[in-house]
Amino acid sequence: MRAAGQLRGLLGSAARAGWGCAGRRRGCSRGAAEGRQYERVFRASVGEPARVWGAAAERIEWFKPWARVLDAGGPRGASWFVDGELNICYNAVDRHVENGRGNQIAIMYDSPVTNIKEAITFKEVLEQVSKLANVMVKHGVMKGDRVVIYMPMIPETMLTMLACARIGAIHSLIFGGFASKELSTRIDHAKPKLIVAATFGIEPGRKVEYIPLLEGALAMTQHKPEKVLIYHRPNLGTVPLVPGRDLDWDEELAKAQPHDCVAVRSDDPLYILYTSGTTGLPKGVVRPTGGYAVMLNWTMSAIYGLKPGEVWWAASDLGWVVGHSYICYGPLLHGNTTVLYEGKPVGTPDAGAYFRVLAEHEVAAFFTSPTAIRAIRQQDPEAALGKQYSLTRLRTLFVAGEHCDVETLEWSKKVFKVPVLDHWWQTETGSAITASCIGLGNSTSPPPGQAGKPVPGYNVMILDNNKQTAKTKTLGNIVVKLPLPPGAFSGLWENQEMTEKIYFQKFPGYYDTMDAGYMDEEGYLYVLSRVDDVINIAGHRISAGAIEEIILSHGAVTDCAVVGLEDALKGHVPLALCVLRNDVKMEEEKVLEGIVKCVRQNLGPVAAFQKAVFVKQIPKTRSGKIPRSALSALVNGNPYQITPTIEDPHAFKHIEEVLKNK
Ligand code: COA
Ligand code: AMP
Repeated sequence: MRAAGQLRGLLGSAARAGWGCAGRRRGCSRGAAEGRQYERVFRASVGEPARVWGAAAERIEWFKPWARVLDAGGPRGASWFVDGELNICYNAVDRHVENGRGNQIAIMYDSPVTNIKEAITFKEVLEQVSKLANVMVKHGVMKGDRVVIYMPMIPETMLTMLACARIGAIHSLIFGGFASKELSTRIDHAKPKLIVAATFGIEPGRKVEYIPLLEGALAMTQHKPEKVLIYHRPNLGTVPLVPGRDLDWDEELAKAQPHDCVAVRSDDPLYILYTSGTTGLPKGVVRPTGGYAVMLNWTMSAIYGLKPGEVWWAASDLGWVVGHSYICYGPLLHGNTTVLYEGKPVGTPDAGAYFRVLAEHEVAAFFTSPTAIRAIRQQDPEAALGKQYSLTRLRTLFVAGEHCDVETLEWSKKVFKVPVLDHWWQTETGSAITASCIGLGNSTSPPPGQAGKPVPGYNVMILDNNKQTAKTKTLGNIVVKLPLPPGAFSGLWENQEMTEKIYFQKFPGYYDTMDAGYMDEEGYLYVLSRVDDVINIAGHRISAGAIEEIILSHGAVTDCAVVGLEDALKGHVPLALCVLRNDVKMEEEKVLEGIVKCVRQNLGPVAAFQKAVFVKQIPKTRSGKIPRSALSALVNGNPYQITPTIEDPHAFKHIEEVLKNK
């Protein structure tokens, strides 16, 4: 720990440097000195990871100090802060109250869809969370038990996450845009003792009825949770409770006493977050507590250049990793006010909404997706609505979730009038893998098209298919040399075999990100595409294979391949190439209607599935795989390569012709 103490100075000054750099000077570049600071921290983080992360961990309160910073014993050497014990809720809430931040706003809830705005202080969060923890314990939830959360963008969702963390229960939050079937698979996989649900979510023009969706899921599950705690959203109507199973949030809280934080081990899971990427089995990413707390707290200053007390807004959804890390845990750990926005970039009520929120809550740094910016630009190309607002506090805009095209990037710089920085992420990592670390003095005007430089701890490399380092500016597989830094996943829930197979087998000694791209001479990374079956739809990660499986369950379709079709708003939308059964007499339009309904009912509206073309044959490799990258190039009118392993190369020409005639 003494060695860690020595580095504290280095990390501390890094954070301070960031506050200055992120000033309103447009495109400011801090020059060589600051660049060297990033280089120094990066080199130390890969050369002596224990020293760097030991120092960062001293900014978190531990109930029991760690014996070793890093245990490199396992095959992936990813055990951080061994034997250390802490509580992330204590660090995100209690300690701020103890240290005099009790009256600072912790959560600034802004909901244009219900016309509610509510400022909740750290003290109020503590009161609510400690009572909610008590309710959970009273109903038998213990350390290590799972709690499924099925709730929209409301403060109660965050309180539930924090209450789980407080008692060492593992939460699994399911995004509201998934249908009952998806929810049921996740419930069966996580086997929660308790489900916490809200009655309604609000999507523009419709109420999302969470309880019927949940009942639909529970009718399908093998696993039945003992209790369901239901939060009735005010003024939206009531739902009947199932006697003996359902608990009413308000009634339970009224009877509850504050419950203290329990100590959990650094490696104990904080949450399971399901994501896409492999067909068939649920992919539950497990987040270890200690490393995550350390990394998130560190990134708030090192990457985002924030000081405690400032206002931060991540315009994502709590159901995604960005929501977990940067709506909930990151800003609270660092003592920032987090904006919780229940609305859309457009239509709630208009394309000026984001500007209003930024101005009204005096947001210092903002995180959103390129899709959201494209939506604003599409509706208000001159940002006339946005110009009404003065963004005096805003210093930086960060984008992620999908590749940010240069046009969107340039437009954002023009209208938000701050540096716009793309950074690259995955659910598995929990925080950015590459970024412009403004707190470490990275340039705030990096070249267009890049997604930043490797964040300290992430030794990013580009390997060719023969596992050799690719030359600069040569496209290859993006991998990270092990060990992964604190905060990254510890594996997939109850499936170590699949974890090894998916992430660590193809490139021994590395984490396989399954993204493809290249690095330039200065070390900037350019992320171009996925190697697996993931389609990025409006920044949401959806498995093409999962859509295919559902389409195939519709009796009329005998074979199908789903690929991402470029879309001016959402980046990509799914396009299904379908082969009809010979004896099907139904019109293609009717079949399309049927499969669209099926995907909506089984996967959910968020897949945004609406397009299909009917073809005679899907090309396959000899081992029966769909040649995804060639097919997606084809449907997007780009040059494609037919590899020698393709069984029937003529199928490509046929698809091309069908598309031409559409
Ligand atoms: N609960 C229930 N349904 C949801 C939902 C939720 N939380 N979120 C989305 N959906 C539904 C929508 O209502 C829509 O349903 P519909 O087909 O009945 O209209 C469908 O899923 C697709 O939604 P969405 O992707 O939001 O598309 P949209 O056309 O309604 O809106 C945008 C377009 C650009 C406004 C929207 O895609 C957006 O805000 N994108 C940014 C997303 C983002 O931040 N991603 C980054 C994550 S890190
Ligand atoms: P998710 O796990 O849902 O966060 O999705 C992760 C995937 O989204 C990555 O593997 C990338 O394919 C894509 N992605 C995220 N951020 C970026 C970015 N800044 N540039 C390009 N692709 C990105």
